[in-house]
Amino acid sequence: MAFKIAVLAGDGIGPEVTAEAVKVLRATGVECNFEDALIGGAAYDAKGHPLPKETLDLCKDADAVLLGAVGGPKYDAIQPIELRPEVGALLPLRRELNLYANVRPAKTLKALMMASPLKGERGLIDLVVMRELTGGIYFGQPRERRDNGNTAVDTCIYSKMEIERIAKRAFDIARQRRRMITSVDKANVLETSRLWREVVTAMAADNQDVKVEHMLVDNCAMQLVRDPQHFDVILTENMFGDILSDEASMITGSLGLLPSASLSDPKNGKVFGLYEPVHGSAPDIAGQGRANPIAAILSAAMMLRYSFDDNKKALRIEAAVDQALDSGIRTADIFEKASRLVSTKEMGDAIAERVAG
Ligand code: IPM
Ligand code: MG
Repeated sequence: MAFKIAVLAGDGIGPEVTAEAVKVLRATGVECNFEDALIGGAAYDAKGHPLPKETLDLCKDADAVLLGAVGGPKYDAIQPIELRPEVGALLPLRRELNLYANVRPAKTLKALMMASPLKGERGLIDLVVMRELTGGIYFGQPRERRDNGNTAVDTCIYSKMEIERIAKRAFDIARQRRRMITSVDKANVLETSRLWREVVTAMAADNQDVKVEHMLVDNCAMQLVRDPQHFDVILTENMFGDILSDEASMITGSLGLLPSASLSDPKNGKVFGLYEPVHGSAPDIAGQGRANPIAAILSAAMMLRYSFDDNKKALRIEAAVDQALDSGIRTADIFEKASRLVSTKEMGDAIAERVAG
């Protein structure tokens, strides 16, 4: 039976890069039905809400979701804040679809090694940030103003269950890699972090085939710059993961090329997930054919790997991306001397051709 994929192209360069990801998925020969729905500013303009009910319903009914990007300056001032693309669409989508496990690989593409801000071989990294995505300070209640607006409250809250389920996914992923987890917290200050460390320590005792170490978040931020090759899987809570994943992706030198997956629990043997580039909607270059579709295309590869259990086709897409770059073509964002400048669509075509073989 064909897989049903909800395509939420979103705003800015979202539609352009998503179209290329769909093209590459088609080129794999995997049977997919694509259904489009509105999200973000585009949905707000058309329907008055950044996450219309029909979009959420389509996602719930799909096997996987392919997301482009949401937001843009046009929507930054919308009131109330619950109607802005980020807070009104991304966060409720994560929560409603129970996408608690955010997988953000930071892997240097060899052809682009020189772009890393770290000199020489040190910028060659291959790690994964496993970020808890539906708990912590992003969602904790109360969140409010007190004292006539002069005091603000956010709440960080984690249950043992929430920590266990994300940690379990980290162990699973570590087993497909170098079997090393760095669990990151702030246990010298925060109660939630002390619970986090307790739970991960107990699970480490039951999963001795994977090496587990604990690291304080400030130290981790430093070690990522000092010795990024040390890391295999970084397991951490929502906000620390937000920050560390940006830092890790910058070290690869090509933040704009990185994919991500947000996974829910497996059901009927299938893992439901939402797949999206790490980059934003880049409204300044939208509609010009200048966007780099590689992050969206690599997100499609992650979809094949995690939701459709097709690692072989995922590897084929990843190899096609390397080959396209090795052939010397570049979109504007990664253009360098002696390479050939191509458009979003030409990059997508070059990768799709190599996938089709
Ligand atoms: C991310 C983004 C979001 C987050 C914002 C846009 C709400 O930074 O996906 O990392 O903080 O989770
Ligand atoms: Mg972020």
